[in-house]
Amino acid sequence: MAATRNSSFDDPFFQSADDFFLANHKIGLTFDDITLATLYSEILPRDTQLDITLADNLRLNIPIISSDMDTVTESRMAIALALNGGLGLIHYNMPERQQLSEVSRVKFHVHGMIQEPIKVLPEQNIGDVLKMIEERKFSFSTFPVVDEKGKLVGLLSGHVVKPRYAKRKVAEALTPRAQVHTLNKKELGKDPIARADKFFNEHLGIHKLLVVDDQDHLHGLITLSDIERLAAERNAQFKPARDASFRLICGAAVSATRNAFGELDRERILNHVGGLVERGVDAVAVSTAHGHSKGAGNTVKVLRGAFPKLPLIAGNVTSAAGVEYLADCGANAVKVGQGPGSICTTRNVAGVGIPQMTALYVCSRAAARKKVAILADGGIAKSGDIVKALTLAQAVICGGIFAGCNEAPGEILEIGGKLYKQYRGMGSFAAMKAGSAARYGQPTNPTQKVAAEGIEALKEACGSVDRVLAQLIGGIQSGMGYLGAANLAQLRDKARYIRVSPAGMREAAPHDVVELKTGN
Ligand code: XMP
Repeated sequence: MAATRNSSFDDPFFQSADDFFLANHKIGLTFDDITLATLYSEILPRDTQLDITLADNLRLNIPIISSDMDTVTESRMAIALALNGGLGLIHYNMPERQQLSEVSRVKFHVHGMIQEPIKVLPEQNIGDVLKMIEERKFSFSTFPVVDEKGKLVGLLSGHVVKPRYAKRKVAEALTPRAQVHTLNKKELGKDPIARADKFFNEHLGIHKLLVVDDQDHLHGLITLSDIERLAAERNAQFKPARDASFRLICGAAVSATRNAFGELDRERILNHVGGLVERGVDAVAVSTAHGHSKGAGNTVKVLRGAFPKLPLIAGNVTSAAGVEYLADCGANAVKVGQGPGSICTTRNVAGVGIPQMTALYVCSRAAARKKVAILADGGIAKSGDIVKALTLAQAVICGGIFAGCNEAPGEILEIGGKLYKQYRGMGSFAAMKAGSAARYGQPTNPTQKVAAEGIEALKEACGSVDRVLAQLIGGIQSGMGYLGAANLAQLRDKARYIRVSPAGMREAAPHDVVELKTGN
């Protein structure tokens, strides 16, 4: 029989994580310092599974999270990540109310059933409805009509929501209740999408289905276009990451906010996170540059006490003690990374931080003991880095990789005929002025002198997140195929490492050729 296991000749060279990192414990190693050995495989890349559970109620279909940075993640980015199976963390360099709205935009993006459809009242004018559409930038103009007790009265069709009817009452223009198609919510059963799909098949030309209870109170709205999109998603390999109510998942970052006396502002933090929870946030990240600190730990403790089931991410740390501390405070997942980021200067400015693979190894061992997840945060420049990170971490957090995408906040700039987007560290002067100083323990008064730990930069514009993620996911699956890993747990289990010499690193990139096209 052909040998499928590793040969004993390999063993001294290609070592398990414990053997390799302990043997190299005197030196901090990062992604390019190591490479992974290939192993016997019966796994095709396309058959690999990338789903990961980060907390009891936080499950991703791909292990990729976008950074809570003001040039990376707002609602557009979070929607794109969730549609691809990942998670976006909405940054906190904005007024708290605005962050709540950003979360709402994600939660209401695509729906199996829109849980709280926008309704109008019979006594409103069509003009009021037009004004609401304009102000709230709705892209639809058909609304259920309910009375003040929430009972269904009819449906206001987009055909009559026109300026020429502005002075007419909704009551005059609506399609009456008797002619509106509804389902009782009890009829939706266990698979509301399949039930709605059947309804639309049976009702030619009907695009909207209203869901009511026994008293005819409106409970939801299902649209044909959402059902068609959801039916298509069922065939995709990596499904959107959704919550139990079919809404896209969304995370949001908060800081360890202090009051005027320099103490943790518990009330403000609780109010803010309470608002996020009301909007349906799926995870809150306590984001500070130094997570192994009293402020970060106490923030996690306060939140864990108030929201026992809310998935909490906290960081950043680079030591086992840091992971243990945040886990004991109540975090479900810990961000690992201090200074590896593409816009970070923490290592130069403060002289601290640990190269990422060594940090991940040390943290992963503490995390396994504490039964929490770790997230490899920063320094990821290519899909191979993600594969290496995922041999130790449950998921990765990326900033720079997404900052050039259409979905990142900010305009595309043209410089010298090339297209760019702005990308800045949350510890850069500009970002700290905009609000993130607390994250770096710097004075929050913008007139005071602060020490920046990040730079302002540009990223080449790189198209849609879908395109970037397709490349990254393809790379991860390829790596898993080379290691014979059918899923992420097997990848962590099977990985074998070896150090790379500077010449080996040069050998890894294209060389001795004139490059015509990049790999992408
Ligand atoms: P990448 O490499 O993906 O890194 O661009 C993104 C991560 O970097 C962290 N971050 C910073 N670290 N100074 C730092 O030392 C900064 O100004 C800064 N801004 C962001 C953060 O963890 C992010 O996810």
